[in-house]
Amino acid sequence: MVNTSVELLGLTLSNPVIPASGTFGFGYEFADWYDINILGSISFKGTTKEPRFGNPTPRIAETASGMLNSVGLQNPGVHAVISEELPKLQKVYSKPVIANVSGFSIDEYVYCCELMDSAPQVGIIEVNISCPNVHNGGLSFGTLPASAAEVTRAVKAVTKKPVIMKLSPNVTDICEIARACEDAGADGVSLINTLMGMRIDLKRRCPILKNTTGGLSGPAVFPVALRMVYQVYSAVNIPIIGMGGVSSAEDVIEMMLAGASAVQVGAANLVNPYACRDIINALPAAMEKYGIDSLESIIGGAH
Ligand code: SIN
Repeated sequence: MVNTSVELLGLTLSNPVIPASGTFGFGYEFADWYDINILGSISFKGTTKEPRFGNPTPRIAETASGMLNSVGLQNPGVHAVISEELPKLQKVYSKPVIANVSGFSIDEYVYCCELMDSAPQVGIIEVNISCPNVHNGGLSFGTLPASAAEVTRAVKAVTKKPVIMKLSPNVTDICEIARACEDAGADGVSLINTLMGMRIDLKRRCPILKNTTGGLSGPAVFPVALRMVYQVYSAVNIPIIGMGGVSSAEDVIEMMLAGASAVQVGAANLVNPYACRDIINALPAAMEKYGIDSLESIIGGAH
């Protein structure tokens, strides 16, 4: 009998598989399809201070082995998330969840984190400093060590819950950003968010996405994500949540060997709503195939 459980910042997850923010709604939407309590945790839809409709459409484009999105942080706003969405999730999911928050200023990040700190269901706060689809926020905080550290320090000051900073791959040196977050007090980092890309409509001779650019995700980005998790593992001493194109139990194992303590599954949920369930179900056989008794024991094992 293999052991799929992992420790993450004081929480014991029955397995390391977590649906990634923005690909699984607020979780309860999937509860009619399968018992979502099998999930290690859930990182729910990125939440901002005010409600957001998101970017104009088209905001999704297909690519080889992946997709581009320029959703633009569509969400009902932090107050509705806490008063309406989390109670719905609580009815069908009994484990601690990961609150993914975004902001357009330090004050907005602080505002959201302070509120999430008092939400009992929230076990970890994931701070998105890496959204490539909005201006004057998100990504701009995550591309410079100083601003990444500034957000980290500000949110850490208002919450007692563990804080994970979600990092962008659209930087010269992701290790430098990860170290800046760690030095500023981050309890962990998650990576990678999407890679900035674009497509052009050949008939109309203009960008397919109304926002011109979008974030690339899906199996195409997996080797890039894996490389970055591997490098960041050597650069910091805090836990890493690995993500980026994870689509199978074998991908989860690779991510953990690179250094991830837990693994988020994103675009795969949009192709197959059962993706997380299927990966969790496939994990024991994949572990046996590669002679792994305990997932916890393989974290960073490729170094
Ligand atoms: C979006 O809503 O645009 C995607 C969120 C992200 O990539 O951080």
